[in-house]
Amino acid sequence: MTPLHQVIINKDTKINPIWIMRQAGRYLPEFREIRKQNPNFINLCLNENLSSEITLQPLKRFAFDAAIIFSDILMLPYGLNQKVEFEKGFGPKLGEVNIDEMSKLDEVDFVQKIHPVYKAIKKVSTNEIINNKNTIGFVGAPWTLLVYIINQQSPKKKLKEDFFKNDFLINRILLILEKFLKIHIKNQIDNGANVIQIFDSWAGLLEERDLPNYVYSPTLTLVNYVKSLNIPVICFPREIKNYKEFCEIVKPDVVSIDYNVDPRKILNHIKIPIQGGLDPKILLSDKENLKKEAIKYLDIFKDHPYIFNLGHGVLPETDPNMMDYLVKTVKDY
Ligand code: CP3
Repeated sequence: MTPLHQVIINKDTKINPIWIMRQAGRYLPEFREIRKQNPNFINLCLNENLSSEITLQPLKRFAFDAAIIFSDILMLPYGLNQKVEFEKGFGPKLGEVNIDEMSKLDEVDFVQKIHPVYKAIKKVSTNEIINNKNTIGFVGAPWTLLVYIINQQSPKKKLKEDFFKNDFLINRILLILEKFLKIHIKNQIDNGANVIQIFDSWAGLLEERDLPNYVYSPTLTLVNYVKSLNIPVICFPREIKNYKEFCEIVKPDVVSIDYNVDPRKILNHIKIPIQGGLDPKILLSDKENLKKEAIKYLDIFKDHPYIFNLGHGVLPETDPNMMDYLVKTVKDY
């Protein structure tokens, strides 16, 4: 059994597997080299030779226990024929939604448009480096995707003021997302993904009263779908205030915590395996501090099933030597 499955399925507390959100990315010079030659990010995700190579880059350097496929949550709206571009220094930029077009789209066209993502997963999951490691597939949660689809860019701190104005449009988009997220998940699993992570990066933007409608219900549907395929599912409802309530309602196999969560408090509230927490900025400090902070998490979770990760993605300015030191610290614990 892979280390991640041992923790998730067998609730093993003796090992602490490690992988890192955004482990394949800009802090690695070998990634930046490929990126320089490929200015179009979407096309890079759709090049299964390069995207599988990028996925494996961090595993060649560090003793990570899982590969996370190099792709993006916005490949889904792209597959739904919304225009998606990544502008340097700005982030994602999406075109306007054409809901009638989106509603007409069928499964075959969607899969056709993004099938290199699945081919990349197949390449990664059958690579010898992955022997006894997991291949993590992922999707954006319906709420976070809805935010990008309607807001057409990152909401940073605030949503467009009239975001909720068009209820009817929102409900239609949520139905379309449910259908195609299931298709996207199924295809990733069929090609070798054996853990699924659901990123709800903007869950923290919502008022408590809106969580049932936009986060709990649509995420629960997806979690149950992944479970029905016999694959463990990790949820990352970033910056929600009440992780306990989220876990009681949505019941993922693992919950990934952000760096604002007090790990000691969460330990008393949550029974399921926990992942992550360490602030990515700690990797920008010094080795002594990094070790102290990493060990703090390992100590707190020493009798709880725990997968080591950060509280959000690794920052582009991170020194790969610090990542190396972190992995070694966790492995030597
Ligand atoms: O290593 C991995 O974790 C796998 C690859 C991965 C990417 N994006 C690659 C990527 C994953 C899992 C994601 C998820 C993702 N994408 C999320 C959820 C996680 C989170 O960070 O909250 C979100 C919100 C997105 C949308 C997205 N994609 C944004 C906001 C950006 C711009 C970020 C920036 O700082 O410019 C991207 C681009 C992106 N996705 C990059 C990478 C490596 C950077 C591309 C580049 O400019 O080289």
